Amino acid sequence: MKRIVVSGGAPLNGDIAVSGSKNAALPIIFSCILINGISEIDNLPDIGDTRVALDLLRSFGAVIERRGSITLIDTRRLSYVKPDENLVEKIRASTYLIGSCLSRFGACHLMPFGGCNFSLRPIDMHLSACRSLGASVNDNIILCHSLRGADINFDKPSVGATVNAILLSATATGRTVIRGCAIEPHIDALIDFLNSAGASIMRNGREVEIFGRELHGGKIKVIGDMIESGSYLALGIMTGGKIRTHNSPISDMTSVIDALRELGADVVCENDSISACLNSGNHLRLTATPYPGFPTDLQPIFAPLMAANMGGEICDTVWESRFGYLNVLSSFGVRSSVLGNRATIYKSNLHTASAVCPDLRGGMACLMCALSVEGKSEIYSAETILRGYEDLENKLSAVGAEIKIDN
Ligand code: EPZ
Repeated sequence: MKRIVVSGGAPLNGDIAVSGSKNAALPIIFSCILINGISEIDNLPDIGDTRVALDLLRSFGAVIERRGSITLIDTRRLSYVKPDENLVEKIRASTYLIGSCLSRFGACHLMPFGGCNFSLRPIDMHLSACRSLGASVNDNIILCHSLRGADINFDKPSVGATVNAILLSATATGRTVIRGCAIEPHIDALIDFLNSAGASIMRNGREVEIFGRELHGGKIKVIGDMIESGSYLALGIMTGGKIRTHNSPISDMTSVIDALRELGADVVCENDSISACLNSGNHLRLTATPYPGFPTDLQPIFAPLMAANMGGEICDTVWESRFGYLNVLSSFGVRSSVLGNRATIYKSNLHTASAVCPDLRGGMACLMCALSVEGKSEIYSAETILRGYEDLENKLSAVGAEIKIDN
């Protein structure tokens, strides 16, 4: 179990280069299973989740090589084996095995898919997309002889189900139309990658039209991670400093930039860089909604900012209850109350603590508290944060943090 030891209290100032987006990289990696060829992926983040995803691909026979910033994924000689449950249970994106393995091998085992356990995470929409294209879903395995294009109608936007529906139909026979899709930037990144590999996929608003095609090797540069960028901007403010994030996908981050300004921050955007520092903290009300709204993955990051300033309110319309992390933040002094999918965060006096990471973003929220208060704090089970933040120790040390990660 990894531990982060922090000696907090110093304002963090300086520049951080944001890595490739975790939630864009993961569907792209799994989509390589559909491809009979060698794909070139630039800017793939080296984080816990992508390592597990690449290990899952290797278990089917993929050959993966890193050359500078490019990762080459050779998926010409693959064969199906039951995925290793120890890997599958580590990451949520292992659900993407459903679409990719059914497309390539005509089979996929069902097993407990992992990832952050902050809420019920059903897969009914993923399974109904499989059935629509002609697969039969049994207790522990999904099978199909050949996938046939179909109409799929989702009654709410789901990132994972949209990814799987695209993976199922990219090489299926005929035309598929998916309505009610998620439109997060990572969905467009997946579409761009598959189109570079010979797919025929067009998105128009929440509707995606796909004509099944044979795929060859594809090429893409993974977009910058807006959640990582938002996290470091918030961290700079939290410590009374000013962090500038480079490689930020500014046009995707309008809702985040607006929220920082409502908090009272002075935000400056230039090319692909954003900097933020606080003038005077305001009470902040946030509602997390599917893209283009404020991202649910940043609401845990804004909670400590509210506590350290004038308090605030969070309503999360994406997840039933994504507030378990607030119990852990209370050990740093964050006061809050939760009712269903709403939380009130009170202005609080924060202090040092020892805590166990509740989940990926909740873990980053703990680290923000730890770095903002004078004295030593410890965060256990730090692998959870490293699942989504590349090179954390070096990036934070470079802006003045006293931080050590040990085993
Ligand atoms: C993705 O999870 C992200 N994970 C999550 O980020 C993110 O919080 C979430 O999208 C929403 O943006 C990855 O990309 C790997 P959903 P996903 O399907 O795809 C309901 C992070 O911190 N639903 O869009 O699992 C579901 O319960 C992680 O980086 C069904 O009802 O989320 C939720 O209420 C955490 N049935 C809503 O849809 C289904 O079959 C949206 O979930 C599927 C989902």
